[in-house]
Amino acid sequence: SINVSRKVWTKSDVQKTLPERKVSANKGDHGKGLLVGGSLQMPGALSMSASACIYSGAGLLTTALPSSILSIVSNNVPETMFLLLPEKDGGIAGELIGKDFSFENYDAVAAGPGLGREKGTKNLVRKLISEVETPLLLDADALYYLPELAQEMKRRQEPLILSPHPGEMGRLTGLSASEVNKRRFEISRHYAQEYGCYLILKGPYTIVTTPQGGQYINQTGNEALARGGTGDILTGIALGMLLQNESISSSLCNAVYAHGLTSDLAVQQKYTSTSMASSDLIHHLPLAFRTI
Ligand code: APR
Ligand code: MG
Repeated sequence: SINVSRKVWTKSDVQKTLPERKVSANKGDHGKGLLVGGSLQMPGALSMSASACIYSGAGLLTTALPSSILSIVSNNVPETMFLLLPEKDGGIAGELIGKDFSFENYDAVAAGPGLGREKGTKNLVRKLISEVETPLLLDADALYYLPELAQEMKRRQEPLILSPHPGEMGRLTGLSASEVNKRRFEISRHYAQEYGCYLILKGPYTIVTTPQGGQYINQTGNEALARGGTGDILTGIALGMLLQNESISSSLCNAVYAHGLTSDLAVQQKYTSTSMASSDLIHHLPLAFRTI
């Protein structure tokens, strides 16, 4: 469209929109979140995502996972509660999730970290898209079956947020990652408008696109983020932000900004972009929020 808006999301934008904790706050004021994911093959992705959500200010977090990884995740993240989902081959058996499982009554829901691509995942994602009545963020393997769920996506009225890396964006659009990287703005705007969703297209200079086609560019972050697990941490931060802010686009832009800033501070203060683990980022989140 001609009415294109595109801007850099700055520190001052973050300062203006980041929710503050009131002195009189109680945990209910900061949102009840649900994080869905995990498999026997990838329990760490879910653990890191849940921790990042807690460190980003979530009031109450419930983590929905296959029961075989309960003890791993609960040892890593003592703050979260759990919803045990039926399981097959170490992953969530989405085909066994019936009416008795409710994903309602949360202020926001995120799914994907460590999920895996079990066939049942498609049913799980379909159920989330159709039943979650609050903002829903899909990342990683929760994006995998979306090309087969186009109708459900278009039918959904409530906010839907996708956070693909260029390879995942390629799968969503039928393009290669390098084709996506050549036309990142245009491809994300077109997709967001077609499906009426928010889109976080990741990579250096991550772009947040709104369903109306507005675009925000992030300038924080560095190559220390180019390692497995950092995307799962972004999902956790974004869920935390969505729980505390009315504006979805500010929540997403602030999450992307804080995630990148965390890696910048970690590299300045202690690590190198080579010698760092994804989980180190989580412990630098307080520093990033303090700096903002
Ligand atoms: N500069 C700045 N930011 C970067 C850079 C870079 N050079 N490289 C990566 N990032 C950021 C991205 O913007 C994003 O926020 O790091 C994060 C990486 O997220 P993902 O690509 O989702 O990585 P992650 O999920 O942790 O690990 C990769 O995802 O889809 C699966 O199969 C895939 O197993 C793989 C896994
Ligand atoms: Mg990822």
